Amino acid sequence: MSELQNSATIIEEHLEPGERNTRRAFLAAAGAAGLCYAAALAYPIYRYLASPEEMALSATAVTEVTLKDAQKLPAGSVLMFKFGTAPAMLIHHEDGRWVSMTAVCTHLGCTVQYEPQADRIHCACHGGVYNPYTGANVSGPPPKPLKLFKVAVNDTGVEVSRA
Ligand code: FES
Repeated sequence: MSELQNSATIIEEHLEPGERNTRRAFLAAAGAAGLCYAAALAYPIYRYLASPEEMALSATAVTEVTLKDAQKLPAGSVLMFKFGTAPAMLIHHEDGRWVSMTAVCTHLGCTVQYEPQADRIHCACHGGVYNPYTGANVSGPPPKPLKLFKVAVNDTGVEVSRA
């Protein structure tokens, strides 16, 4: 038996039974707290390392969204909403047309904004510009257009679905 084990045995022998239970309870609580702490650290790391395929799958899992009362959206304005996990926008143009598309810039993934006064969709990150009717990339670094969604307007809201 090593000297360290001898010391532990000697200390154990001098503890009262109630003190042993207190020590065990403390060690159990410390262990549980340690597990919780490790889980809290591991989850964000897991989310960060999740594969792009997994992230894309969760983003496309939702195929349709009903925007209740969105038919009341005034002409010339936009409604930002979540389509699955990704931001999207519903634009009610001045000419009465309804257009919905993803709001994720195809360059590096910033959220784009509709600017009615300039009649464009703008990405503030690097100055990308898109057509607000077609989603086409007009200028700046975006390599691809914004993906359009199907829009159906009815009396209770607007249904947006993947094309
Ligand atoms: S992320 Fe939109 S232009 Fe770069």
